[in-house]
Amino acid sequence: MKIIVTKDYEELSKKAAEVVKDILSKHANPKLGLATGSTPEGLYKELIKIYENGDYSFRKAETVNLDEYVGIDEKNEQSYHYYMFDKLFNHIDIMKENIYIPSADQENLEEATKEYDKMLDGVGRRDVQVLGIGNNGHIAFNEPADQLNARTSIVELTESTIAANSRFFKSKEEVPTKAISMGIKDILNAQTIILLASGEKKREAVKKLLEADKLDTHFPASMLHLHRDVILIVDKDAMGEE
Ligand code: GLP
Repeated sequence: MKIIVTKDYEELSKKAAEVVKDILSKHANPKLGLATGSTPEGLYKELIKIYENGDYSFRKAETVNLDEYVGIDEKNEQSYHYYMFDKLFNHIDIMKENIYIPSADQENLEEATKEYDKMLDGVGRRDVQVLGIGNNGHIAFNEPADQLNARTSIVELTESTIAANSRFFKSKEEVPTKAISMGIKDILNAQTIILLASGEKKREAVKKLLEADKLDTHFPASMLHLHRDVILIVDKDAMGEE
């Protein structure tokens, strides 16, 4: 795992944007894996700036997202569909038909997971996958458990994730308890993975990840040790450096 420590969140976001742009620029039809949560927001702002400055066009890019809540409408401001359009897609020249976000907006959720897997098989290996990490070590919505899903699945969110994500909702009760999430096998199906972690609250997860010498299903981020090209971009607060 390559580690880049930045002085703060702003520098982390700029560095991540630079790495993403450099990778995408090498491909005629780049495939970009995207994450939600507060951490990549700065990266998305930087990518918008890069686009607005005329330094990169997303016209030929395909994007694939990791997850979505079950039980809230995609038009709801808390949905990851809304987030992606609001924070990135509405501000760049990506083609709508090249955007893939798992959808839980149908009665048959099992069918939704199969459809997403089929799409993932069609898109194939992403050139770069952006990832965040939950305080409990979850990646996408793959929560600590005795077994982890290889492919797209409907997952129950843990109390700790519900509590952490309640900051985006009016109350904890409003946080969905289920999500549709890409599985570990597909998260790892990217040439390069850029893992972002910022702030003191991620310090423990980062420490655990860097110290992990075992693949631990109760710490899903440890699965990233199976991948040969992970770049951890972390600020000093998350790294525990002065
Ligand atoms: C959410 C998302 C993850 C994200 C994580 C951390 O639950 N499903 O993809 O990495 O939580 O979020 P944040 O960046 O807001 O700390």
